[in-house]
Amino acid sequence: GYGTGKGARGLRFTAVAPNTADTVTIPDGYKQNIVIRWGEPILRGAPAFDPEKQTAAAQAGQFGYNNDFLSLLPLPGEHNRQILVANHEYTDEVLMFRGYDAANPTREQVEIAWAAHGLSAVVVEGDRRSGKLTAVPRHRLNRRVTATTAFRLTGPAAGSDLVRTSADPTGRKVLGTLNNCSGGTTPWGTTLHGEENFNQYFANASRTTDKRYGIGTGASERKWERFDKRFDLAQEPNEAHRFGYVVELDPYDPDSTPRKHTALGRFKHEGATVRLTRDGRPVVYTGDDERFDYFYKFVGTKRMKHGSSRAVREHNLSLLDEGTLYVAKLTGDSPAIEIDGTGKLPGDGEFDGSGEWIPLVTATAKGAVSHVEGMTAEEVCVFTRLAGDKVGATKMDRPEDIEPNPHTGKVYVALTNNSNRGVGTNAKADEANPRNANKHGHVLELTERWNRADSTRFAWSLFLVAGDPNDPATYFAGFPKDKVSPISCPDNVAFDPYGNLWISTDGAQLGYHDGLFGVATRGERRGELKQFLTMPNGAETCGPVVQDRRVLVAVQHPGEVDGATVDKPASAWPDGPGKYVRPSVVAVWRADGGDIGV
Ligand code: FEO
Ligand code: CA
Ligand code: CA
Ligand code: CA
Repeated sequence: GYGTGKGARGLRFTAVAPNTADTVTIPDGYKQNIVIRWGEPILRGAPAFDPEKQTAAAQAGQFGYNNDFLSLLPLPGEHNRQILVANHEYTDEVLMFRGYDAANPTREQVEIAWAAHGLSAVVVEGDRRSGKLTAVPRHRLNRRVTATTAFRLTGPAAGSDLVRTSADPTGRKVLGTLNNCSGGTTPWGTTLHGEENFNQYFANASRTTDKRYGIGTGASERKWERFDKRFDLAQEPNEAHRFGYVVELDPYDPDSTPRKHTALGRFKHEGATVRLTRDGRPVVYTGDDERFDYFYKFVGTKRMKHGSSRAVREHNLSLLDEGTLYVAKLTGDSPAIEIDGTGKLPGDGEFDGSGEWIPLVTATAKGAVSHVEGMTAEEVCVFTRLAGDKVGATKMDRPEDIEPNPHTGKVYVALTNNSNRGVGTNAKADEANPRNANKHGHVLELTERWNRADSTRFAWSLFLVAGDPNDPATYFAGFPKDKVSPISCPDNVAFDPYGNLWISTDGAQLGYHDGLFGVATRGERRGELKQFLTMPNGAETCGPVVQDRRVLVAVQHPGEVDGATVDKPASAWPDGPGKYVRPSVVAVWRADGGDIGV
């Protein structure tokens, strides 16, 4: 079975059995600690967490809600310390406020929610003798970015009519970032954060372009439009055009203005992962997490510079302003087929084919050029989904995190699920999305032509078709299915130091809680997938970081179960019964001090 301590280097742990325990379950011989929880003070002057007396001012100095993407950056000169950057995707008001009345939120509650969104940068310190990690409050680099922090809009759409508002006639200064889901760490020492489901914060949309982004025509769920008119599109129609971007933060300069990069397009960015071309230019992969939406690649034209001087950092912060944004089109080399439940791959025996990166817009220092007929460069950057529609990009099953393997250059695309595939008049299964009513999701493996990051062509194949391994319509890169863990709804992906792919899940549909899994990508154990940990009730697994001696994971929305409230909680994690459920970051390490999975 899957429960053995054998496995590829980096995956030699006893797999955790699928379960529904209200805790973080880790392999035998491993230990864990909570690095930081929602509400812990990180800035100078911030008070201790008191959820019964929470204020917006307190929350603005405390760790935010619903931690998602995590990045750990080196902190030279400070022994055993690193900078942790975390996304705070969204707020669960019913679990934050006792007696919350969703129809009538108070101003204080709304302002607390604004302060609980955004990003946190917090210095963390490792323990001398273990993998334990603890936050260092009041460090000079600690920072909170919220729904009201000033951002600079950059790239082709900055300053255009499409992004001007009454509060910002320049179209260059945006307040806040919303729904930061996954992200990436750049080779130049900054972090990227995808603004995902920004549609939910806006009310009273009327244009077809807003509809394509899922913005509602009535009141918003959180009623923010009652407290700031910019969330009411009837009054401020362009405000929503200023969200849905990849955001960049310089965690080494707490006074820097973070940026929103319009050159990378506007959609429900799940994340953004960066690699460099052979001559040092940035390439960013980014998915649009929606059923039947697309995934994209940005190829920069400026080379990264090395060094830490202010001039070098300023240069590198402009790398995502110039380059070309592409969208993916995948072609199967077999007749359109559905994985048929016989356990055999039909057609030519492989789910694979070729792909093309179709250019949408090129940004240069002198201006931008659209490659899409009937759309200006600004329009492509703001209505990127419509540009993808026009050029015939391939409709995917919720493209989530995308990550190149630093050892091989192959690129992995997590596709979480798509219950609507093949239902009614919706697109039917195709070779790259091979299951109708796809409940469990899959993972694609892309190989850029000549293994060059900036190629405009690629080959692809199915790496993993998730589900219960006993289900014939699953596939684990050819590995024997009686020796793998069940997995459902792959979401965030990361690589360990050995080139194994680690996958966290969101909304697993097998009757068990979400979790974190490792899978070998090469060698004779390629496809051997093992579960490393499981989540408490109602939680999604996010932000995995896998270092040689430590795994870091974000436990997002614990206790988020239909009907649950502060008074009727569905989870007692992490602080026990009678306490508020708190999204938190967890570190896991090997009790004997050895390397993870070795
Ligand atoms: Fe925020 Fe696509 O998960
Ligand atoms: Ca996600
Ligand atoms: Ca094929
Ligand atoms: Ca997700």
